[in-house]
This record gives sequence, structure tokens and C-alpha cells, in this order.
Amino acid sequence: MIGVFDSGYGGLTVLKEFVRQLPQYDYCYLGDNARAPYGCRSFETVYRYTLECVRHLFRQGCRLVILACNTASAKALRSIQQRDLPLMAPTGRVLGVIRPSVEAVGGCTQSGTVGIFGTAGTVLSLSYPMEIAKLYPHIRVFQEACPMWVPLVESNEHQSAGADYFVRQHIDRLLEQNAEIDTVVLACTHYPLLLNKIEQYTPARIRIISQGNIVARSLQDYLHRHPEMEQSLSKNHARIFQTTDSPEMFDRYASIFFEEEIKSVRIEN
Ligand code: DGL
Repeated sequence: MIGVFDSGYGGLTVLKEFVRQLPQYDYCYLGDNARAPYGCRSFETVYRYTLECVRHLFRQGCRLVILACNTASAKALRSIQQRDLPLMAPTGRVLGVIRPSVEAVGGCTQSGTVGIFGTAGTVLSLSYPMEIAKLYPHIRVFQEACPMWVPLVESNEHQSAGADYFVRQHIDRLLEQNAEIDTVVLACTHYPLLLNKIEQYTPARIRIISQGNIVARSLQDYLHRHPEMEQSLSKNHARIFQTTDSPEMFDRYASIFFEEEIKSVRIEN
């Protein structure tokens, strides 16, 4: 199976694209809803929680795990890849969402000025500025942490009138940093749920990059370049949903993200 992990519901925006573009594979989604959000937590805590969840997915029979969470990708991916994976699952792979998003940035900006919306954890990690500098040293990067956006989504308030205030506030703050920003990355897998409000308050000349489609295309490319991994993956169109919190709550809410009925099970972490 392909494991897909997020702190809560946000990774479902990525899984939805995987299923749309690569429907043949079996997927096991794990949302750590009991401990979400991750965005405000320390490096050590995000690393520990993410590692526990990744280990669980490998025990379930996954060979490939995607961290469909920017915060976990920023704070835990490298340590897991370098330190834990060789012992935990020597033939397994763990991939994140930051690298594919960064690759996409280069082809989008004309002004060479990019904005990043993310959780406080992602922004403070400086992962985006550092990764962009490696691939595109000429691009200037401005960041804005949006601590209210994930709680709005996780509490199903993202369509409410109250959400407009916080959406607009962070867009304005980012654009005040530099008037030449012509591309913004929604560097949190929860944010596509706020897309219509983000579009509403973002000037039309600015390109908005959402991650689902980009990460799905990058996975497709990865599997193409790694036939031994591709051949080892089961292909029965199975979808398994797991949560660390109440499955009833997960099913009710996750189907809004996934746009299909979901039947999840609770796992103990
Ligand atoms: N969806 C996660 C991300 O992409 C973060 C949500 C959280 O704060 O837990 O960063």
C-alpha cells in the first residue's frame, strides 16, 4: 500500500488527487486527529508524533509513505529518512510535499518573487526559503504564518463569515511585505479548503499554487523512475482510512474533504 499521513484532515486534499490520477493503487490514510494541529508544536514533538505514525503505516504493510503535511515534511522528514528509515523499513521510502511544491514554483513566477502561506512550524523551519534557494537562487521568498487557518478548517468553520477576517488579514500581511509577489504557495494541505476565500482576497494577477495536483504528479513521476517500487505496490483500488480520534467524527467530516463516503477505524498510538 501507499501510506498517506497528515496531522488531521488536510492530507485528504492530497489523497483525493492521488486517487484521481493514480486510482489503481491501494492507499492507507492516517490522520493523527487526536493530536492535531501540529503547526504550533515544537520540532521534537512533530518529529516524535510523525515517526510514530510513519512506523504504524509501515507495520500496516505500506512500502511507500507520503507525508501529506508540510509541517511534518519540514520538521521530521529528513530525520526519518536519514536516521529511522534504515532500521524501521530498509526497503521502504518516505517522501514529503515540500520538494515537489518548490519545483513547481520556478515555472510560475515571472517577477521572481514568491509568497508562502504556512503554519508557524513550516514558516519558522525556513524549509521553503532554503529549498527554493537551492533550486532557484534568484527567487526572493516572503513568508506568512497563518495560525488560524488550520483551526478554522479542522473545526469546519472555513466557509463561515468569520473565516473571511483571518483569510484577508494574512493575505494583506504577506502582500505588504513585497508588492512584486506574483505567486503564492498554499504550503499547508489544509488550505485548499479555504481556496475560494483565498481567491476572493488575492489580486487576480497573483498565481495561487495548491499542492494536491503537484504532489500527485510528482508521485507518478517517482513511480515511473523507480519501477522496483512501483511493481511492489498492490493495485486493488483499496482505500483504508485510519484516525487516532473518533472514527464517527472522522467519517462525517472527512467526506467533505474527500467528496466520497468514508468508513474509518481508530488506531491507538
Ligand atoms: N496540514 C498540515 C500542513 O500541511 C498542518 C496542519 C497542522 O497544523 O496540523 O502543514
